[in-house]
Amino acid sequence: MERSVIPAAEIQRQRETMRRLAARFSGGERAPLAMVETYGCQQNVADSQRIMGMLAEMGCGFTQDPFMADIIVINTCAIRENAEKKVFGVIGQLVHVKERDPNAVICLCGCMAQQETVAEKVRVSYRHVDLVFGPQALWKFPELLWDVLEKRGRVFSIEKERGSIAEGLPVVRESGVKAWVSIMYGCNNFCSYCIVPYVRGRERSRDPAFILEEVRQLVESGYKEITLLGQNVNSYGKDLDKPMDFSALLSEIDKIPGEYLVRFMTSHPKDAGEKLFDTMARCTHVAKQLHLPVQSGNSRILRAMNRGYTREQYLDKVRYARSVMPDLVLTSDIIIGFPGETEAEAMDTVSLIEEVRYDALFTFIYSPRPGTPAASMPDPASRKEKQVWFDRLLDAQNRISAELHRMYTGKTVRVLVDAVTEDPKWPLSSRTHGGRLVHLSGPSSLVGQYADVRIVDSNTWALFGEAVQL
Ligand code: 5AD
Ligand code: SF4
Repeated sequence: MERSVIPAAEIQRQRETMRRLAARFSGGERAPLAMVETYGCQQNVADSQRIMGMLAEMGCGFTQDPFMADIIVINTCAIRENAEKKVFGVIGQLVHVKERDPNAVICLCGCMAQQETVAEKVRVSYRHVDLVFGPQALWKFPELLWDVLEKRGRVFSIEKERGSIAEGLPVVRESGVKAWVSIMYGCNNFCSYCIVPYVRGRERSRDPAFILEEVRQLVESGYKEITLLGQNVNSYGKDLDKPMDFSALLSEIDKIPGEYLVRFMTSHPKDAGEKLFDTMARCTHVAKQLHLPVQSGNSRILRAMNRGYTREQYLDKVRYARSVMPDLVLTSDIIIGFPGETEAEAMDTVSLIEEVRYDALFTFIYSPRPGTPAASMPDPASRKEKQVWFDRLLDAQNRISAELHRMYTGKTVRVLVDAVTEDPKWPLSSRTHGGRLVHLSGPSSLVGQYADVRIVDSNTWALFGEAVQL
């Protein structure tokens, strides 16, 4: 299979461009300030950390205030129409930044930017946006920025590409405790409702040696939680010269010594099986947590979604996973109101979540994405009807989450303390090994540490605990 690793010489050229930009910026009265705003999934968060890494290498400082910024980067999400509307609102507002400072450079990147219709709209109606580039062009951001500054003209880089892998670019991580590591990019699944395969290109896996080295370095520098990212991590490695599967990668990572946990997302149920669950159960560093999006509890809808499994097959997988990991924390994504879905079919999804009893759910009302097969399917149910079904699903899940959370009360669990909060009663936030949020009372010196905590209260969304002094 064709591999698409960006040649080292190309990466070197970006590094040189970063140096040239740093030299150019150092001639100014002060170091330039950059603002990077991120919408959407963890993959976008990880991409933004790369963009920040490149900006830092160019000598930029960072700000959250668009009026202070010399360079503004909006990293966008295209998964639902609402996400797009929000971004258009944000970039519309940025015209005031440009009015005040015509030299400010405004960049739009991410999944929205990769869509031709969006790029065209920006070209015509958002003329204050200087640079538009899709996820595939992220690695050449320094060169694109250079072109904007040199030519003082607008640059659009959204060529339809299969996608590539770029190694050796800098990264700025915002926390010293948790890190995201992309292990693969793109998606080949073409679920009929989803825009991702069109904007993020074909699946391509990073070389395991680079991933292992990155994880090893993160563990050595004190990171305690590492989340492996991919649109569908279970198809990791199929495109490598020496094919390797995700379970093998997990086993290799698990050998890295240290006190840390590995999580991963997202798993596609069609590719997640006994081998993965056995590996998770065996690997001591792998969190017993699984995000396994089911999308629907009705087999006809699952077929129309092109998901590649039935309700029964999904339930069998959950049963097996729980048999080898009794404490497994399980979460899922659900879409209500897929074109042609009936009330009875939507209620099959409610009955599935009652049967599985997920710890938490991410729930969405179907949003048509132009260019996807589902967008041209007949969709007779009204928004109002879909909202009723959606509310029933939420009511059921909220009750289930509250019940599951209540079972933690009185127990002592191990958490990773990740941040201080503004709440004087619960000044710390933390996560259990299974990823449940625990608001915590205890000293701020615990941040970045594992701690044993006694759970004293809970609600639908979180647990509340006290650090146990040992
Ligand atoms: N409409 C609603 N939800 C969607 N998702 C993906 N595409 C759509 C869409 N067109 C949801 C799926 C996916 C999650 C990331 O977003 O549930 O798992
Ligand atoms: Fe979209 Fe399906 Fe790929 Fe997930 S697996 S990104 S839902 S096409």
